[in-house]
Amino acid sequence: VECLDLVLIGFGNVGRRFARLLAETSSRLERDCDLTWRIVGIATGRHGAVLDPAGIDVGQALRRTENGQRLDTLRHGGPPGDESGPALTPGLDLIRRLDALGGRSRHQVIVETTILDVRHGQPATDHVREALRTGRHVVTANKGPVAFAYAELRDLARSVGREFLFEGAVMDGVPVFNLVRETLPAAEVVGFRGIINSTTNHILTAMEEGREFDAALAEMQRAGIAEADASLDVDGWDAAAKAAALANVLMAGGVTPADVDRTGIARVTGADVRAAVAAGQRLRLIASARREEGRVRASVAPRLIPGTDLLAGLRGMQNGLVLETDVLGEVAIVQLGSGLAQTAYALLSDLVTVRRGL
Ligand SMILES: NC(=O)c1ccc[n+]([C@@H]2O[C@H](COP(=O)([O-])OP(=O)(O)OC[C@H]3O[C@@H](n4cnc5c(N)ncnc54)[C@H](OP(=O)(O)O)[C@@H]3O)[C@@H](O)[C@H]2O)c1
Repeated sequence: VECLDLVLIGFGNVGRRFARLLAETSSRLERDCDLTWRIVGIATGRHGAVLDPAGIDVGQALRRTENGQRLDTLRHGGPPGDESGPALTPGLDLIRRLDALGGRSRHQVIVETTILDVRHGQPATDHVREALRTGRHVVTANKGPVAFAYAELRDLARSVGREFLFEGAVMDGVPVFNLVRETLPAAEVVGFRGIINSTTNHILTAMEEGREFDAALAEMQRAGIAEADASLDVDGWDAAAKAAALANVLMAGGVTPADVDRTGIARVTGADVRAAVAAGQRLRLIASARREEGRVRASVAPRLIPGTDLLAGLRGMQNGLVLETDVLGEVAIVQLGSGLAQTAYALLSDLVTVRRGL
């Protein structure tokens, strides 16, 4: 049985749910996937960091962060950081300190779940680059690195023989990237269209039922589904980052979120969505991409679609993506339940992929 040493960079909604899912599925992972694990490091932004080569008590780490306490005071086997060096983000600092611990014969996996920054994809991209550069595998639910630096990070991972996996970056645990990579050999994705942001879909469909925009948004914030800065969802940035990630990975798009032609739902009213329903249509935030004159053009915008469209049937937090391929026509994948558990599962499935590749 292979034991993977996990280092969690980010320990918020997603990082903590992932830690819980690991604990819940431990015996299954060992029995079915020949995989055991321990968490040897956790870095956060404002709650400190902890490094312990013997393994961190996950229950204690969860209790501390949920009570607003710091992690530093958990038992701590690492040497202190180099105070004289350049200021590093807590995540970079922890990755650098891993080397000082030795034990490099072990398989280390960096699990990146820091906040999304749609302007530069940082600090996540730096975390991923440093982890790969120093020979660690990376799994992430963060769209930033895939949306901003996919080709570079993929090539780096190949050159060092490590995995760079990001299934949770789009549609949580539903296997979008795996679907294409593992099951559509020699097929070319020539375009896509989909609903890939749960918060805005929840708001639009709640308004169809006569509920208020702000109340529907607040529900998503309470559930930990909306981004920390909700304007990322409402203004279409999250969907644009996902569209860029899809375009880059599935279509070699070479685009960033800023290249995506983007309109959010801030100006959409309850009257708009109900008028659409009355006309047999639906108003949905649609992300799409196509190859035009040799380059990939991606967009995110509220669009009227026929009530009979597959995507029109998706309500609340449901997501769906229609891939247009050259040899198989249109293929659709739909996510009927989405939430933190599903995002955590995406990280878990990437971890199993790392294990299989060893
Ligand atoms: N929530 C979802 O449903 C969902 C679904 C799919 C993908 N995602 C993606 O998953 C990621 C995490 O989302 P979340 O909801 O878990 O966010 P979150 O609750 O805000 O957690 C972010 C975590 O990152 C830490 N952090 C910030 N800057 C850091 C740094 N420089 N070094 C180390 N840690 C740092 C934060 O620490 P402090 O709190 O101490 O500052 C916190 O632990 C985002 O990229 C998001 O887009 C989320």
